[in-house]
Amino acid sequence: MALVPDHEDFFSRRCVWVNGPIIVGAGPSGLAVGACFKDHGVPFVILERSDCIASLWQKRTYDRLKLHLPKQFCELPKVPFPDDFPEYPTRKQFIDYLESYARRFDLQPRFNEAVQSAKYDETCGLWRVRTASASAAGVAPAEVEYICRWLVVATGENAETVVPDMEGIEEFGGQVIHACDYKSGEVYRGKRVLVVGCGNSGMEVCLDLTHHDAFPSMVVRDSVHVLPREVLGKSTFELAVLLLRWLPLWLVDKILLVLSWLVLGNLEKYGIKRPAVGPLELKNTEGKTPVLDIGALGKIRSGDIKVVPGIKQFTRGKVELVDGRAIDVDAVILATGYRSNVCSWLQDSDFFSKNGFPRQPFPHGWKGSSGLYAVGFTRRGLSGASLDATRIADDISRVWREETKQAKQFIAFHRRCISQI
Ligand SMILES: Cc1cc2nc3c(=O)[nH]c(=O)nc-3n(C[C@H](O)[C@H](O)[C@H](O)COP(=O)(O)OP(=O)(O)OC[C@H]3O[C@@H](n4cnc5c(N)ncnc54)[C@H](O)[C@@H]3O)c2cc1C
Ligand SMILES: NC(=O)c1ccc[n+]([C@@H]2O[C@H](COP(=O)([O-])OP(=O)(O)OC[C@H]3O[C@@H](n4cnc5c(N)ncnc54)[C@H](OP(=O)(O)O)[C@@H]3O)[C@@H](O)[C@H]2O)c1
Repeated sequence: MALVPDHEDFFSRRCVWVNGPIIVGAGPSGLAVGACFKDHGVPFVILERSDCIASLWQKRTYDRLKLHLPKQFCELPKVPFPDDFPEYPTRKQFIDYLESYARRFDLQPRFNEAVQSAKYDETCGLWRVRTASASAAGVAPAEVEYICRWLVVATGENAETVVPDMEGIEEFGGQVIHACDYKSGEVYRGKRVLVVGCGNSGMEVCLDLTHHDAFPSMVVRDSVHVLPREVLGKSTFELAVLLLRWLPLWLVDKILLVLSWLVLGNLEKYGIKRPAVGPLELKNTEGKTPVLDIGALGKIRSGDIKVVPGIKQFTRGKVELVDGRAIDVDAVILATGYRSNVCSWLQDSDFFSKNGFPRQPFPHGWKGSSGLYAVGFTRRGLSGASLDATRIADDISRVWREETKQAKQFIAFHRRCISQI
């Protein structure tokens, strides 16, 4: 019987039956689904590879980070941000909000449990989810196999860093880090820093560097949409959401571009070209997020941030650019983005495509077959995750009581071989 692990596995790996869904990931998305399950009275387990909730926010973001979107677009289901929070909460405030959210719903993820694989077992109609826990040096990691009826993937769009291959980087000699390890420009004071990438991270890291008297050069290898964070005191994002209620996307894109031109002017003379496709369409089709400017453009105009084209190669203490120039550089920060890691552990699933995102675009990418769900892969930030979370919890809770009633007799037979949570 497939529910019982094979002989060798049985002795090397603990096996745990979960009477309800498993949620993989304790970021905002995983917490949001957990809170909704609590509301429905559905038991569940959250597995988290890190040792805290919202590890992206706690461990892999910089000090000066603030939410880019107004707070009403970033709150999780059932709990608005406190009234005394500013319109754009700081990283610290957002983390406080998430901590109190987890406490309020008594969410207790199993920390230090990285999911290594998850596979649907056709024979018994259940998911087998294998984890490895962090352990002391020299000791083999503890392995557990969880078995459950529903699997909710909440590992995020930004689970792993993108680190491009760059010719000569091993000869460069200076410090090279990814933006996820950047905390503040303090340690770069007086240094010439090459920031590779011009997304929101690249722009904001450059801005922070200028605040610490460093000398950033930002690599813009292609085109990018930069929009003002606000137009006439109104959030650009909010404006786009409002306009999309009445107007087609292409027209909203045109309006956003005209407004951006009026507020920011022509950016080409600073080396920033706009893509031919509009910002919302580009986000929908290619997942490229427009930059919401919070001050970097001003520093580009003043020359405090230099814009440089793509990289040809690194040499000792220098970078050669595709336009033939070579500039001296003390350190490199790769603001080259992130990627999903789902395909590295979720097995045999057609629901996700090779890039680790659901094949079905928003709003259809939250539910697969065989009890598989995805939350937080909408490319619509926290508001998209909240929407997914509510749908998933409603859907599973509807069938949970019925399914568990039927499964009870079947499972009772096997409980002598497996422990229960
Ligand atoms: C610098 C930065 C700023 C951002 N700012 C905003 C913003 O202002 N507004 C907005 O809406 N969005 C923003 N985002 C997007 C961000 O993705 C979301 O805010 C939010 O963090 C998504 O939540 P999530 O739970 O889906 O993913 P995450 O926050 O990434 O959480 C996923 C969790 O899954 C865990 N995990 C991953 N793989 C495994 C595994 N195999 N086993 C177990 N656990 C695993 C991770 O450790 C992590 O804790 C920002 C992203 C970055 C990088
Ligand atoms: N305050 C905030 O809310 C905030 C702050 C930071 C980030 N974020 C969010 O976090 C997510 C990730 O943002 P991100 O800026 O880290 O990543 P990103 O949006 O994916 O941008 C990555 C950048 O790196 C460039 N790049 C990649 N490989 C390169 C190479 N080999 N050479 C030169 N350039 C290269 C890309 O250029 P191409 O376009 O040419 O590929 C792009 O400009 C986004 O959703 C973003 O909105 C939000």
